[in-house]
Amino acid sequence: ESWTVDAPRTFPTAAAEAAAQGCPAFRRDPHSVYAELREGAPVCPMRPPHGLETYLITRYEDARSALADPRLSKDMFGAMDSYRRIFGEDSTAMDDHMLNCDPPKHTRLRRLVGSTFTPRRVESLRPRVQQAAVTLLDACPQNAPVDLLESFAFALPVLVICDLLGIPTEDRAMVQGWSTTVARTGFDPRSREAGRRAEGELHRYFAGLISRKREHPGDDLLSALTRARDGSGRLSEQELLSTAWLLLFAGHKTTAYLIGNAVHHLLSHPAQLRLLRERPGLMESAVEELLRFDGSVESATFRYAAEDLTIAGTRIPKGALVQISLSSANRDPEKFEAPDRLDIERSGGAHAHLGFGHGIHYCLGAPLARMETQIALATLFDRFPRLSPAEPWAPARWLEVPFPAFRGLAALPVVL
Ligand code: HEM
Repeated sequence: ESWTVDAPRTFPTAAAEAAAQGCPAFRRDPHSVYAELREGAPVCPMRPPHGLETYLITRYEDARSALADPRLSKDMFGAMDSYRRIFGEDSTAMDDHMLNCDPPKHTRLRRLVGSTFTPRRVESLRPRVQQAAVTLLDACPQNAPVDLLESFAFALPVLVICDLLGIPTEDRAMVQGWSTTVARTGFDPRSREAGRRAEGELHRYFAGLISRKREHPGDDLLSALTRARDGSGRLSEQELLSTAWLLLFAGHKTTAYLIGNAVHHLLSHPAQLRLLRERPGLMESAVEELLRFDGSVESATFRYAAEDLTIAGTRIPKGALVQISLSSANRDPEKFEAPDRLDIERSGGAHAHLGFGHGIHYCLGAPLARMETQIALATLFDRFPRLSPAEPWAPARWLEVPFPAFRGLAALPVVL
């Protein structure tokens, strides 16, 4: 499972290998490794276990242009050979969505889904998110350690996304179980098999749910998606299924890990937390700064080179995989002054962070993610003025994965 680095002698090999292998030291502090890479190997060739030639981009300007570069494709079906080498011969029945394609198909899908996933719909969720945050926190033990990641940070977004899609309450635990299994799928055969089975279950479940929504539409997003149409017609059955899956998947872990990272960093920066408590009006800029400082999407933003190209002097051959590290770009000192300082009053520039991506694939759920995170933090810090880490002396437990797609904690033990 280990990644190695295809590094010429001048590269900061130790740093790049630490990043490639996701070793515990790197997980604890990826930012100093990224700092070395930005300096010495800003477009770093790597050899992941799937063997596909891969390049990691770490500087802000390179990352921003790569995210919007039409020569770097998201068309998974066009890059099927590469895809198979990474993921095996898996079914692609739920992969037919906007994040896996280029224009003109992307334009059509994004327009159709965007016509139903409107700012008004997001805003209508606000009271429900607020109420859910209170209910979840009230259910936590108040005087004993509680893992806030599981009981709150994960529980809230899954509840919101299930509400949004119109997934009945009694099905939610099951759906969440399958989606967690799929998300944890690694490269080894056993984990792949488990992932394939869970994906099959989700596929069957969504197919059934969509046909029920067609017969008895509600005011949820999935019902709206079955009716959405434009000049080019409606979403096909496969596109509908894939979109439901994309929203469930994209709207869940990302938000959960961001809430976890945000709470952890505010607790570790008491002066910043005090400032936020004194001036709640800073919440919006605090969430933007937390997305910049330690956002939850680290390198999940990959692209395929549709042609030979050169980025920052490094030649990338057609067919190679390009990973763009948002975590690294957001700490680039060329873009952000004192990037390793958490400063919730940072204005202007902080909002140029790449935490939600950039270009045509810019996160469709950003308004919802912002609202959820702002409500989660405000409710938590408001209700629990003495909130503290349960093990203030212990180092934070970060997820340890071979290569970082997401940046998040494995657990967040606190006393409320
Ligand atoms: C795309 C981050 C929450 C739906 C993206 C991308 C990023 C991102 C970086 C671009 C990926 C790329 O260019 O390869 C995040 C973060 C979130 C979050 C950090 C939470 C803090 C959500 C939520 C939803 C959502 C709540 C929906 C319910 C989507 C969709 C896309 C997307 C549909 C694909 C857009 C397209 O291809 O045009 N997200 N996301 N995300 N996100 Fe999010």
